[in-house]
Amino acid sequence: MDQASEIREKIDIVSFISEYLPLKKMGRNFKANCPFHNENTPSFVVSPERQIWHCFGCNKGGDAYTFLMEYENMEFPEALRALAKKTGVTLKESQFKRGEYSEKEKIFTINNLALKFYRYILTTHAAGKTALEYLIKQRKLGKGMIETFELGFSPNAGSSLSDYLVKKKNYKNNDLILAGLSIERNGKLYDFFRGRIMFPLFDHRGNVVGFSGRSLEDTSSPVKQASHTFASSAPKYINTRETAVYHKGSMFFGLNSAKEEIKQKENAIIVEGEFDAISLFQEGIKNVVAIKGTALTENQVSLLSRFSPKVTLCLDQDSAGFEATKRSLEVIEKKGLVTSIIILKDVKDPDEAIKKNPGEFKKALKESREIYDFLIEKFILENNKNSASGKKIITDNLLPLISNISNEIIKEHYLKKLSKVLDISSESLNKEIEKFSKKNQEDKIIIPKKDKRGRRELLEEYLISLIIQNENSKEGVQKIKKILSEYKFGTPSLEKILENIYLYFEKKDKFNNQDFVKSLSKELLATFDMCYLFPLPKFSTELRHEDELRKVAKELLIIYIKDRVRIISEEIRQKENDKNQGRLEELKKEFTRLLSLLPKN
Ligand code: UTP
Ligand code: MN
Repeated sequence: MDQASEIREKIDIVSFISEYLPLKKMGRNFKANCPFHNENTPSFVVSPERQIWHCFGCNKGGDAYTFLMEYENMEFPEALRALAKKTGVTLKESQFKRGEYSEKEKIFTINNLALKFYRYILTTHAAGKTALEYLIKQRKLGKGMIETFELGFSPNAGSSLSDYLVKKKNYKNNDLILAGLSIERNGKLYDFFRGRIMFPLFDHRGNVVGFSGRSLEDTSSPVKQASHTFASSAPKYINTRETAVYHKGSMFFGLNSAKEEIKQKENAIIVEGEFDAISLFQEGIKNVVAIKGTALTENQVSLLSRFSPKVTLCLDQDSAGFEATKRSLEVIEKKGLVTSIIILKDVKDPDEAIKKNPGEFKKALKESREIYDFLIEKFILENNKNSASGKKIITDNLLPLISNISNEIIKEHYLKKLSKVLDISSESLNKEIEKFSKKNQEDKIIIPKKDKRGRRELLEEYLISLIIQNENSKEGVQKIKKILSEYKFGTPSLEKILENIYLYFEKKDKFNNQDFVKSLSKELLATFDMCYLFPLPKFSTELRHEDELRKVAKELLIIYIKDRVRIISEEIRQKENDKNQGRLEELKKEFTRLLSLLPKN
């Protein structure tokens, strides 16, 4: 028996997983809400007899090793070491030969070297002088914070880091490209980050998964630009692109330094930017994490819910920040976390607030309000609650949010409160809620039935319509792009429009119709207009809209793959007796590959 199996036999999977999740006995098995996706009814099952776990919601499963790998984002060798330690088994050298790294571990090591390099430049080298001064004088960071968050600076010269890692540390060009630190142009390697203050991005276990780099161009006061970018074309912040270890929507800046404090305070303060998090930390408010711009994702909420039952939102105080707050709330409710909000007066973000007056910020933190109390008050203040139209606006905004509350008692509490302040019966409020929740329950994709064309053509048009009739986010469209990477359109003009949309998002973060049309050639305008007028259902929230988009993309992919599979199986059938076995093998390979591309859920 090898050591991995020996260790596995020593672990009881039920008590092992119980250290991470509350398991409940259900018949022969144990159940819990799955830690790997959002759910309110448990579909995560652990079998003591078979010593395995499986989630029927997200289809993940395995043994103690795979659990640890999933839960702690570990690679197998690391999980093996952890469980060996736990069971008191001493591993033989051969179990993990030196130098035999997985791709992920290699990236961690390279990132660590990069971190040290950037730090050296910032703290010691002349090339980092301006940046260091900027951090200390303008951003008012103490040396302690620069240490704690291990900030650095990437030199402006084209390839200093790449040269260092290749020449001094013997890494291959491709290693650096895979880590997202270098890019290749005309066969030459360049640094991805240049002339930027470097924030290492750690996962909650302290691995360096990537970096974000803030441009030094704007050394004046940090004025927020409407489009998240400077007037000149370089974005204020750039982040490591998606790599084997960096997934933007699955991590927080600062969680690694904040997690103990978050556990202890049973509360995580959520801010937008790196500087917001560091400035709060510097003032002793250490249970803080930053989402880095956009709204919270489900993965982020899942991760945070391991450390705290409560979150306190303190996003930017502008309308974008408020939209992000509302969207985040929808995701937070899926995990049933308690949410409150900090309101700041006359400042743009927590970084500015705490620098202006730390005492006042701490007071605002103490006086943080339950989010739904705040929301009700806000909409009542902004509208005339005594007029019919005012009541409609208020309920149109609040009911989708309140009806989404996962705890029934809390939901009823706020419905009653709303009913009282608006002087509208609870029955009417409930009826309104029913109206839109019925719409949501329809899981089928809603497209006009009358059309004579095939479902595929219709779906293609529907997909483009969903994108161009809304202010879609870059992330949403990137997800679509990923799903449809193999897909070939039946209608070429729609395909061209989508390609234009992808191009558009390379430069912009939000979709703007008028802006986009300018980039379209004349031939595509008619198709564009048709999609622009395509009758769409109304989605109660942006998340539902995104779900629908994903659903359509998946269905298209399935239609396409099934079609290809049908053609290939026909060809295989014909070639079965052929002499050309090579072609047959190819076809069979393609057949299996296509099947593996089918979406899992
Ligand atoms: P903000 O534009 O509010 O930046 O974006 P900020 O934190 O106030 O920036 P400073 O104080 O001027 O340095 C909030 C966060 O969104 C992410 C960054 O993490 C940023 O801190 N962001 C912003 C990006 O990832 N890319 C961008 O181009 C802009
Ligand atoms: Mn900000």
